Amino acid sequence: MEARKVIKELDPYVPGRSEDEIANEFNVKKEDIVKLGSNENPWGPSKKAVEAIKKEADGVNRYPETDLHLLVDELASYAGVKSENVIVTGDGADELIDVLAKTFIEPGDEFITPLPTYTYYEFLFKPYGAVPVYAKWDLKNNALDVQSVLDAISDKTKFIFLCSPNNPTGTLVSEGDLRTIIEATDALVIIDEAYFEFSEQTQVNLINEYDNVFIIRTMSKVMGLAGLRIGYGLSNPDVIQYMYRIKPVFSLTRLSYVASLATLRDKEYIKESTAKSIESRDYLYQEVSKFKNLHVLESKSNFMLIDLHDSGYTAAELTNRLMSKGMIVRDCTSFKGIDEYYIRISVASLDDDKRFIEALHTLVD
Ligand SMILES: Cc1ncc(COP(=O)(O)O)c(C=O)c1O
Repeated sequence: MEARKVIKELDPYVPGRSEDEIANEFNVKKEDIVKLGSNENPWGPSKKAVEAIKKEADGVNRYPETDLHLLVDELASYAGVKSENVIVTGDGADELIDVLAKTFIEPGDEFITPLPTYTYYEFLFKPYGAVPVYAKWDLKNNALDVQSVLDAISDKTKFIFLCSPNNPTGTLVSEGDLRTIIEATDALVIIDEAYFEFSEQTQVNLINEYDNVFIIRTMSKVMGLAGLRIGYGLSNPDVIQYMYRIKPVFSLTRLSYVASLATLRDKEYIKESTAKSIESRDYLYQEVSKFKNLHVLESKSNFMLIDLHDSGYTAAELTNRLMSKGMIVRDCTSFKGIDEYYIRISVASLDDDKRFIEALHTLVD
């Protein structure tokens, strides 16, 4: 059977490379690999989450809980909102984006996405018939080009994605810029705060002031649960209720449920993960800044974008050279809005950071 036209024309999503892939392809030992490619928490999950998973393992013959109120209450308390403002998903923040699409898109609706940004918005919205309209991030000044967003608004605009800190630039959108955009439109302004903990600031209060704001969050980053796929969204109760009507009932597994509860209650773990990530980010930024032929963008997240134009390598070339030394970085060639001369690196332990910087010194001045 023929697939739908929109599916055949969709640019495939290119995920970060895994340790197994690199170990096989480049014949390096898995234990020697330094993974800086996927913006994960490199220090492992909370011990309390692991204990909770082990305890729950014998119960996986049963379907997941559908009454998620304990987790919703815990997330509400963590985010500083009411439980009625929260929706939880079981395939990460990516499922939230999909549920947003299913709930609200009518074919022909436009969504604005400033480039470069997280490519999954477009990947998930297009199949429902939504049309991307591109605005831009100003890479030179490392800031959102607010005017480009305002200029992109039309009477068909239904959604505006603002990732803050932005993936892959690490840039925050200021509260003032957010208010300017929110007040200029009736479209739903979707603020993706997947990485907000690393910036130590949030715009969550805007959901109490405006009906057209939706905040995306995830437990895949600072919370160390990327492999369990838990996301949560924050917005006004009407938006949340509509989304619950269509969200897959069982998408949050039993193991994800107990692990997310245990992690949220493990405040020390969250504090430590945040502090270690910021320490690693600051170290990597400081060290990469010393390279004469690399230009690194200052980041408020757990990753940073490196401009390779003066290095003599394309992103694909440098990524390959680094991977042959067991260093996994993200080749950003598949990101729209930047050319083939950018890589992104994310935080690791300070020892691994040092190994990476040493490997980089053998390739670039
Ligand atoms: C900006 C941004 N939003 C959302 C996500 C999706 O996260 P999750 O693992 O919860 O699906 C990612 C993942 O890398 C991301 O970078």
